[in-house]
Amino acid sequence: MDHTRQLLSPLATPAINFDNRVVMAPMNRRRAINGIPGPSSLIYYGQRASAGLMITDNTAVASNGFGYLDTPGIYNAVQQAGWKKVVEEVHARKGKIFVQLVHTGRIGHPLNHEDQAPLVAPSVVRAEGLIRVPGDRHMPMPAPTALSTTGTQAMIDAHINAAVIARQLGFDGVEIHGAHGFLPEQFLHPHTNRRADGYGGSIAKRARFLLEIMEGVAAAIGKERTGIRLSPFAGLNDMPHYIEEASTHEYITDALEKMGILYIHLSGWQMDGASTLTPAYIQSVRKRFHGLLMLAGGYTAASGEAMLQAGLADLIAFGKPFIANPDLVQRFHSNAPLAMADEDTFYQGGDKGYIDYPAMPSSLLPI
Ligand SMILES: Cc1cc2nc3c(=O)[nH]c(=O)nc-3n(C[C@H](O)[C@H](O)[C@H](O)COP(=O)(O)O)c2cc1C
Repeated sequence: MDHTRQLLSPLATPAINFDNRVVMAPMNRRRAINGIPGPSSLIYYGQRASAGLMITDNTAVASNGFGYLDTPGIYNAVQQAGWKKVVEEVHARKGKIFVQLVHTGRIGHPLNHEDQAPLVAPSVVRAEGLIRVPGDRHMPMPAPTALSTTGTQAMIDAHINAAVIARQLGFDGVEIHGAHGFLPEQFLHPHTNRRADGYGGSIAKRARFLLEIMEGVAAAIGKERTGIRLSPFAGLNDMPHYIEEASTHEYITDALEKMGILYIHLSGWQMDGASTLTPAYIQSVRKRFHGLLMLAGGYTAASGEAMLQAGLADLIAFGKPFIANPDLVQRFHSNAPLAMADEDTFYQGGDKGYIDYPAMPSSLLPI
């Protein structure tokens, strides 16, 4: 098997032509002081612009939507100015970039919000676990306040507004973060959604929050520029498994198929290298959804290529390999060795571990 025949082949879609199928997975690197992507982020994204598509750090749509300290936002003018420069840098290098829009709901801490606003969520169900707050301390996540029906609709609007702004800033599209136990998944999940209004109860009502975001975003910026990340069965951020998990995801997948959005991005959570997403599950999504399917979670060039060649995916997202190999596409092309990322600097360290991983000198690249 040619080790990267499909991975490095272009992909044409109605609105966007991707140079290759190697995607930089969304990674929150926590370098955005006060939520603002700074000059180092320009360099970071610019270095990686040969990816077919880059998806940004998860980016807050509202001031109470930051889970983590130093996460970027996109709801005020200073943050937007920071992102505009990043997008211009990426486009100057002929790259493509989507912003990952997030509201983390009950995951976070008021001390990480600029106005110390309380956490909000579908219902008052506290997440287990500690979170880093200013002063390099770790504190338990407090119980969230339950959103009113009007408050819920305001959060849907916050996602849609952020998508409109993202396009005005020049982003090629947006990815809604529907994965990893953040607000949209908190609405989907019966453990965190105990509501009695139109946004809780049956699968259809629990899915409404996420689907109204997707419908609103697709209508506002175009379905051909709208993607979503989902992580069925991942159980991340204190989300226990539930009986209707598979049928909930079938319901969403069918609705997304009707909407005709650009892609579904499945994030498989890694336990000892094994993804939570089986080939049978991926195949079942493929049968229901005919837009693009992107897969992430522990892929190598060889395993990603195998998924493409088996017809199980259209795009493969790489996370950690992109941290340490800004020229990942070139290395795949040349079958060159990959550098290992330093975990100590994933989420902190300033420029160290962020923009100082070198590209391989071309003289060292195998032909
Ligand atoms: C430092 C770091 C930050 C991450 N931040 C995000 C994020 O902001 N949004 C998200 O959806 N996933 C996030 N992830 C998960 C990655 O997108 C990806 O799914 C995961 O790293 C598995 O892919 P890999 O094995 O290629 O690294 C993060 C992963 C890492 C290592």
